[in-house]
Amino acid sequence: MAVRAKIVGTGSSLPSRVVTNKDLEIMVDTSDEWIRTRTGICERRIAGEGENNSLFAAEAGRRALEMAGVDAADLDLILVATMTPDMVMPSVACLVQDALGAGRAGAMDLMATCSGFIYGLSVAERFVRCDPSMKVLVIGSEVLSRRVNWEDRSTCVLFGDGAGAALVIGEEGDRGILSSHLHSDGSLWELLTVKGCGTRFPVSHDNLEQGLQFIQMQGREVFKHAVKALESVALEALESNGLNMGDVDLLIAHQANMRILDFLRQRMGLEQDKVFINIDKYGNTSAASIAIALDEANRQGRLSPGMNVLMVAFGGGFTWGSMLVRW
Ligand code: COA
Repeated sequence: MAVRAKIVGTGSSLPSRVVTNKDLEIMVDTSDEWIRTRTGICERRIAGEGENNSLFAAEAGRRALEMAGVDAADLDLILVATMTPDMVMPSVACLVQDALGAGRAGAMDLMATCSGFIYGLSVAERFVRCDPSMKVLVIGSEVLSRRVNWEDRSTCVLFGDGAGAALVIGEEGDRGILSSHLHSDGSLWELLTVKGCGTRFPVSHDNLEQGLQFIQMQGREVFKHAVKALESVALEALESNGLNMGDVDLLIAHQANMRILDFLRQRMGLEQDKVFINIDKYGNTSAASIAIALDEANRQGRLSPGMNVLMVAFGGGFTWGSMLVRW
C-alpha cells in the first residue's frame, strides 16, 4: 500500500491583544461599517511589546506536537513559512528548534507570502514521501503588525498576527495529502510589496521616510488576480484527483477578504457550512491564515476521517497554490 504524508496534529497561537474596528476608528479615518462590508473583518490580534514571531510559532508547534503525541526530540525537520521573521538571520525555524528542544531537527524558513503554509506543507509532503520515517513540523507564522503603516487606512485595517502549525508524518493508507499544486507570477510583484530593508532598498533615512518598510498594496488589482487564481487552482486540484466540486467537504481558503471567500463559494457551488471562515476574528494573517484555520476546524470537530479538505492560498509575489487532503 502507498505511503502518504498525513497531518497528525495541528496547533495555533495568537496574541491575546484584540484590536477591534472601533479601536481603529480612533487611529485612522475609517469606520467599522467600511471595514466589515469591504472585508468581513471585525477584529484582529496584535502582538504586544516583546512578543515576536518565534514565540507564536513555537507555541503553535508545541500544540501540534502535543495533539499528535510526538516528542519534539523526534522531529526531523522544522519549516517555518513567514515574511515577518524575528530577524534576517537566524531563521525563525532555528529559534523554534531551540524553544522546542528539537535536538536533531533541521530547520529553515520559507518565504512564499500568504501561500507559505501551502508551500511548506508541499515541501514536507515531498520529504515524507521520500523517507516515510520523517516527522516534519510545518508552521505558518506572522507578526504583520510591525510591517503595517498604522497611518495608512487602506492597509492597516486588513492584517493581523498569529501562528498555526501542522505535524506531517508518513503513513500507509488512503488518507493524507492527495496532491499539491504550486504556482507563481513574479511579473506582478509590484502590486503587493514590502520593498524596504532588503538589499535593493536598504535601511536608509530616505527609504524609511518613503515608508518602503511597510506593506504596500494595489488592493483592487490584487483582488482581481486573487479570485481568478484561487478558483483555477481549486479546479486544478479537483481535476487532478478525478473529483468535482461536490466532493469538497471543507474548503479552507486564505482568509484575505470575505468577498473573495464568498465569490469562491458561489463559483464552486458550495454550501455556507463547507467554507471555513475566521477572517472576522483575525483579519489577514498571511502565511499563518490557513494554518490557524486548519487548527480551528480540527479542534472544533469539523474534520472527520475520510473528508476531502481543500486548502487554497494566494499572496504577494504573486504566489498561489492548493493542497487537497483526505483527512
Ligand atoms: N476606511 C475607509 N475608507 C477606505 C479605507 C478604510 N480603511 N481604505 C480605503 N478606503 C477608501 C479609499 O480611499 C477609496 O476612496 P475613494 O473612492 O474616495 O478614493 C474607497 O475606500 C475605495 O477604495 P478601494 O481600495 O477601491 O476599495 P476596495 O473596494 O477595493 O476594497 C480592499 C479595498 C483592500 C479591501 C480590497 O481591494 C481587497 O480586499 N483587495 C484584496 C486584498 C488581498 O486579498 N490582499 C492580500 C492578498 S494575500
